Amino acid sequence: MGRTRKSCCCIFLVILVIAALIAGGIAYAVLKSKKNSNASANIADESKYAEALKVSLQFLDIQKAGKLVNNKVSWRGNSALKDGSVVDVDLSKGLYDAGDHMKFGFPMAFTATILAWTILEYGESMKKVDQYKPATDSLKWITDYLVNAHPKDNMLYVQVGNADTDHKCWDRPETMSDKRPVSQINKTSPGSDVTAETAAALAAASLVFKKSSDDTSYSEELLKHSKQLFSFADKYRGLYSASLPKVKKYYNSTGYGDELLWAGAWLYHATGEKTYLNFVTGKAADDYADMDNPTWFSWDNKLPGAQVLLARSSFFDEEAGGNSVIGNYKQTAEAVMCNVLPNSPKTTSSKTDSGLIWVSEWNSLQQPVAHAFLANLYGDYMKKSNNKKLDCDGETFSRDDLRDFAISQANYVLGKNPEKMSYLVGMDGFGDKFPQFVHHRGASIPADEKPSCSEGFKWLESDEPNPNEATGALVGGPYLNETYVDARNNVKQGEPTTYSCALAIALFSSLTTTHDVDKSLS
Ligand SMILES: *[C@@H]1O[C@H](CO)[C@@H](O)[C@H](O)[C@H]1NC(C)=O
Ligand SMILES: *[C@@H]1O[C@H](CO)[C@@H](O)[C@H](O)[C@H]1NC(C)=O
Ligand SMILES: *[C@@H]1O[C@H](CO)[C@@H](O)[C@H](O)[C@H]1NC(C)=O
Ligand SMILES: *[C@@H]1O[C@H](CO)[C@@H](O)[C@H](O)[C@H]1NC(C)=O
Repeated sequence: MGRTRKSCCCIFLVILVIAALIAGGIAYAVLKSKKNSNASANIADESKYAEALKVSLQFLDIQKAGKLVNNKVSWRGNSALKDGSVVDVDLSKGLYDAGDHMKFGFPMAFTATILAWTILEYGESMKKVDQYKPATDSLKWITDYLVNAHPKDNMLYVQVGNADTDHKCWDRPETMSDKRPVSQINKTSPGSDVTAETAAALAAASLVFKKSSDDTSYSEELLKHSKQLFSFADKYRGLYSASLPKVKKYYNSTGYGDELLWAGAWLYHATGEKTYLNFVTGKAADDYADMDNPTWFSWDNKLPGAQVLLARSSFFDEEAGGNSVIGNYKQTAEAVMCNVLPNSPKTTSSKTDSGLIWVSEWNSLQQPVAHAFLANLYGDYMKKSNNKKLDCDGETFSRDDLRDFAISQANYVLGKNPEKMSYLVGMDGFGDKFPQFVHHRGASIPADEKPSCSEGFKWLESDEPNPNEATGALVGGPYLNETYVDARNNVKQGEPTTYSCALAIALFSSLTTTHDVDKSLS
């Protein structure tokens, strides 16, 4: 008995030990896989981001003005064909800004800059999912417009349409009948912000078309305009909202120093010329760079973008990398990262309970999407340059922490949120619905109707969901309390913009595949 009991006990002990080892092993494996689960974004998630990229690019097609080429949107047709004709310039192309029919040059140029940046960094990922051509086509639709908007050295058309009268209409772009005045800036009424943003867009796009086309003449033309616009912006300084006070109500620029640095950074990347490096590291840096102070990237504030783009030079460009001011930009880009990383000692309080960066009630998704893109891109620079650590006030973070943050914001947008609502129209994503009442004229009016300016308001007020899907529209987004009211007249939450769409394209491109960024953009 005793013997048996003893051996029984012994066997029991052995089993216990083995069980403990197995349990420990499993727990270890689970913990390990948990730790890596987000960073190594599984295949299923990557294909979600690829789908989100395809969907979001379609919104740029919906926003196209002019004589459409290979139009794939059944409810869209030619429109605004005579834009610019009052001044004998062809301003028919370009993109409508949002749910309205305005062409606002300031945010439109920003849209182009972001799209070009995305193609430069993540073009290979776009190619893998057949989105490279749609992306470059949409970019060219804007840059064709921007080139035409710059008919003389020190003059730039920065708006088509009168926002006050345009907003009194609810009609389709194809049948709009109100006057389409154009607004310019020039030597006596300058606008360094919009001019420099346009210069940034054309410099970035010149790199895209240098790579993507055998014919380099278009790229050279863009670069020529970019250089000229930069010197116009630099030489005749001023806010465009001072020269054209009517823009204050819509896209009031709060400064032009950020755009000058951003354009200088892009021109340095596009040309490699010392002049531009000297510009961004010289007096303009003292005046405008706001070193070590993390701010929010948006259509108005380009500083975080300029900081990350110049940090790129610090990582990969031997000549610029040794410059101490470029080092300061990199340090400031790090502060931008430490501001958004959820476990950083410096983490911002501007976020919702579930961790979405939240800065503004209008267009609330703009900043989380923009910063998720910047964070993932910065992480990719770290990876490529073998920089393993990011220091935030004594605590270290890795490239994977940046990617996890980007994924958390992207997943929120795609439905992992308390509303279980995907904020990207046309895709349920991780949620179970997407908005049906997007504030968008063209989407809200049946395509066979031809309402006049005022006749269309019945569709704004209708209780029926939009008859046309504004596929790829990223709506404004949730309130701070993470609720969303899906109503057509809820402009704050429900109006999609082209620049937020470009930022979403940037974020989804960066998550679509794990691809190493190139050391050089040219
Ligand atoms: C310069 O631009 C301002 C603002 O758009 C405009 O009022 C003025 O007529 C322009 N000047 C010239 C010479 O065209
Ligand atoms: C526009 O920006 C300027 C410069 O920052 C600011 O002084 C002004 O209050 C702003 N106006 C509006 C209407 O937001
Ligand atoms: C990582 O994934 C886990 C499990 O899916 C999730 O609970 C967590 O919120 C994710 N973290 C981030 C930063 O996305
Ligand atoms: C959420 O916030 C919005 C905007 O501040 C407010 O109108 C709404 O009542 C809030 N909803 C809840 C459930 O607290």
